[in-house]
Amino acid sequence: MKGIFITFEGIDGCGKSTQTALCREWLESLGRDVLMVREPGGTKIGERIRELLLDKKNSSMAPMTELFLFEAARAQIVEETIKPALAEGKVIICDRFFDSSYAYQGCARGLGPEMVSRLNMDATGGLAPDITFFLDISVADAIRRRNSRGEEKDRIESAGDDFQEKVRAGFVRAASEDKRIVTIDAAAAPEIIFGQIKEKLETLL
Ligand code: TMP
Repeated sequence: MKGIFITFEGIDGCGKSTQTALCREWLESLGRDVLMVREPGGTKIGERIRELLLDKKNSSMAPMTELFLFEAARAQIVEETIKPALAEGKVIICDRFFDSSYAYQGCARGLGPEMVSRLNMDATGGLAPDITFFLDISVADAIRRRNSRGEEKDRIESAGDDFQEKVRAGFVRAASEDKRIVTIDAAAAPEIIFGQIKEKLETLL
């Protein structure tokens, strides 16, 4: 069976965890071997980089340092996990991938989307997802969801509402530039959202 690489993107609180879990359950019910990973992280080295990136004590981290750390974690997960799993015919579901760097570092941090796109290609050796779901939600709705979960904000989530608006605009821009990215209205009920995701995936399987 052919390996498939699926990624989920969106601002914090867009509902990625619910949708990745539903997606996994459904694919497994079809008999597919599914591997679920997250970025940054998913490998021993990547999880250590994740700690550095999200630790609020690292408030002095320069945007370029941040970008390279995300790309470093990405290079590792691609080599160690994603490429071998694809070669074995698995379905990989990744919670965030390089479109997050485009939106967060390229657009919201202001490093420039073109430069980030080039680095994304270098870090992955040109490996791109087969399909990406951008779960689009307003910043106000995302904040409501995050508050209802009562989770503490990490360093990047603490960057403020304006920052989240810029991130959202970054994802909208990425989606306008690449047909690989499917935009889904994430304000809808989880079953409705998943119905749309399933429809798209059925054409890929
Ligand atoms: P998570 O909370 O979805 O696991 O992601 C961790 C945070 O890292 C989240 O606020 C988004 C951010 N992030 C970036 O800024 N750039 C990236 O390339 C990735 C993968 C995540």
